[in-house]
Amino acid sequence: MKVLLLGSGGREHALAWKIAQSPRVEQLFIAPGNGGTASVGTNVHISATDFVGLKAFALAEGITLLVVGPEDPLVQGIYDSFAADPAVRHIAVIGPTAAGARLEGSKEFAKGFMQRHAIPTARFLSVAAGNLAEGLHFLETLEAPYVLKADGLCAGKGVLILPTLNEAKERLSQMLGGMFGEASATVVIEEFLSGIECSVFVLTDGRNYKILPVAKDYKRIGAGDTGLNTGGMGSISPVGFADEAFMQKVRTRIIEPTIQGLQAENILYKGFLFLGLIKVKGDEPMVIEYNVRMGDPETESVMLRIQSDLVDLLEGVRDGNLETKNLDIDDRSAACVMLVSGGYPEAYEKGKPISGLAAAEYTDSLVFHAGTARRDDGTLVTAGGRVLAVSSYGKDKDEALAKSYRTAEGITFEGKYMRPDIGFDL
Ligand code: AMP
Ligand code: GLY
Repeated sequence: MKVLLLGSGGREHALAWKIAQSPRVEQLFIAPGNGGTASVGTNVHISATDFVGLKAFALAEGITLLVVGPEDPLVQGIYDSFAADPAVRHIAVIGPTAAGARLEGSKEFAKGFMQRHAIPTARFLSVAAGNLAEGLHFLETLEAPYVLKADGLCAGKGVLILPTLNEAKERLSQMLGGMFGEASATVVIEEFLSGIECSVFVLTDGRNYKILPVAKDYKRIGAGDTGLNTGGMGSISPVGFADEAFMQKVRTRIIEPTIQGLQAENILYKGFLFLGLIKVKGDEPMVIEYNVRMGDPETESVMLRIQSDLVDLLEGVRDGNLETKNLDIDDRSAACVMLVSGGYPEAYEKGKPISGLAAAEYTDSLVFHAGTARRDDGTLVTAGGRVLAVSSYGKDKDEALAKSYRTAEGITFEGKYMRPDIGFDL
C-alpha cells in the first residue's frame, strides 16, 4: 500500500520511521516532511493544509492511507473534505472529522463536552465580550494562580497562568480584545489544578480503542521546569506514576466516556486522541486538555516502544476492527532529548550547519529531525527552534536518558541548547 503522512516535525519523522518498517507499505510519502523524513520516505512539496494539492497528489500516486500528523488539517476538516469527494473517498484518512477535531480546536467545546459526559476536568467558565462582567466575577471565586485559555488554536501559546487576580482580570480583557486574534474572542477561565502531568495516547476506530505507551513531556525551556513554555524539550516513556490502578481510572472515567460521548453526539472519530492528564491528590486523573493528534516530542519516545506494526493498527482504525489487532509494547524505557536553537522559544537564528550526525548513526540512539533543512550543496542546517530529537532505549529511564545525552553531546551546531534534566521529576 502507498501511504501519505502529513506534517514536518520530529513527530512526523518518528511516525515515518515506524510506518516505513511495515511490510505492508510499498511506498511512504511525507508532505511536506523535513530533512529527516527524506531518509525513510519521499518528501513531497505540498502543505499539509493544501487539500486540493494533496488530493491531486494522492490520486496520481494511488495513495490509499493518509495519516495526519498535526492538528491544523484536522481542525480545517481534511477528513470531511476527502469523505465528501467521490474521487478520493476511497482513501482512508486517519484522524477525526472536523466535528471531532473541535476537542482540540475549541477549548470551549472541549470543556462543554467533558461537562456533558461527566469527565473529570477543572471547573471553568467560558467568556466572550458579552459576558466579561460574569468572567471577572468568576475569577473572584477562584484562588491564585489563574488559568486563562484562548478558545481557538494558538500554536501552543494560548494558555496564560497568572499569579494575581489583578493580572488575570487585565489579561482577560486583553485576550477578549484580540490579544490572540479571533482565537481569543472566547476565553475559558479555569480553576488551577496542581499535580503531575502525563500524556496518554489512544488510538480509536470510533468504537474500540487501544492505549499506546504513556509518556511525559517537558514543556519549559529551563531546568527544573522554569522559564518560557516551548513546543517540548524532551520526553520519557513509560511514566512510573501512571500505574495499573491509575490507568484503570483513566480508562473508566476518561477514555470510555469520551468515546461514548463522541458516539452519543454523532461525531465520527477514527484516529489518535491525546489526553493531557494531571494526577491530582488522591491519585485522581483529570483532563487538562484534549488534542486530536499525537504529541511532540512524546511521539519520539512512544514510537520506540510500539513493537507491533503500526500500519496494521491503522488498518484496524480504517476498517473498524481495531479489537482484532495486536498492540505489543516494549518493556524497555525510551527517552528523548530535544536539541534546540539558541534563543528559542524567543527569537533564534536558522541556517547553522549541523555536524556529528554521521557518528550518531553508530550509537544506540535514533536522531529524529524536527527543524532541519538541506542546502543545495548537501549541508544539513538548522531550520527551526526545535532542531533534532535524540531518542534512545534503556533498561530504565536513567539508562535511556544517559544514552540520549551522550549522543546529543556529540552533535553540534552554533547556539545548540538542550535541557539538562529531562525526567527529573519521575
Ligand atoms: P493546555 O494547552 O491546555 O495543555 O495548557 C498548557 C499547559 O498549561 C498545560 O500543560 C498545563 O501545564 C498548564 N495548565 C493548563 N490548564 C491548567 C489548569 N487548569 N491547572 C493547572 N495547570 C494548567
Ligand atoms: N507535547 C505536547 C503537545 O504535543 O501538544
